[in-house]
Amino acid sequence: MRLNEKIIRYIYIITFTFLTLTGFAQMPIFKRYHIADIPGLGWLAQFYITHAMHYIFAVILIGLSTYICVDYILNKPQGYTITSRVYAKSIIILGLIITGGLMVFKNLSGTPYSPFMISLLDLSHLTLCMALLFYFILLLGRSVRFY
Ligand code: HEM
Repeated sequence: MRLNEKIIRYIYIITFTFLTLTGFAQMPIFKRYHIADIPGLGWLAQFYITHAMHYIFAVILIGLSTYICVDYILNKPQGYTITSRVYAKSIIILGLIITGGLMVFKNLSGTPYSPFMISLLDLSHLTLCMALLFYFILLLGRSVRFY
């Protein structure tokens, strides 16, 4: 694997890990189940810290995804075709970015979302997160190329 692919892979894994951790920290579970009582993990119960971190890693994920798409368009290896696995993961990540972006908009004051729309966005984002977690666990240990 080329050096920059290795770097991208590590940035992706770190970003995904923190997006999942800070995403679940949007729900009051780490305090309720005393995980935040473990020394060094108290920040997981600080909503504003985890909320800001979720946004920061969301920006990194959007940046990384854009880089990978542009790199693929400009430097597509000869004879390479996108596999169904990569399609599946790309659709899940795109879904997370779209639902996440709409929820960022929701958090701006005065946005006209109905309670149904808010629940739909939340549940879609959470379902996509679980789908990506499942995908990750399923393929753990197999080296997946980004394109
Ligand atoms: C791998 C990618 C991501 C994962 C695994 C993830 C995971 C999560 C989870 C588990 C939640 C909590 C849902 C709930 O409260 O029911 C959440 C909330 C949220 N996520 Fe993500 N997320 C990801 C990417 C993004 C991106 C790219 C954005 C923005 C563009 C984003 C924006 C948000 C927002 C705004 C919330 C709601 C916070 C609130 O108002 O309570 N997420 N995320």
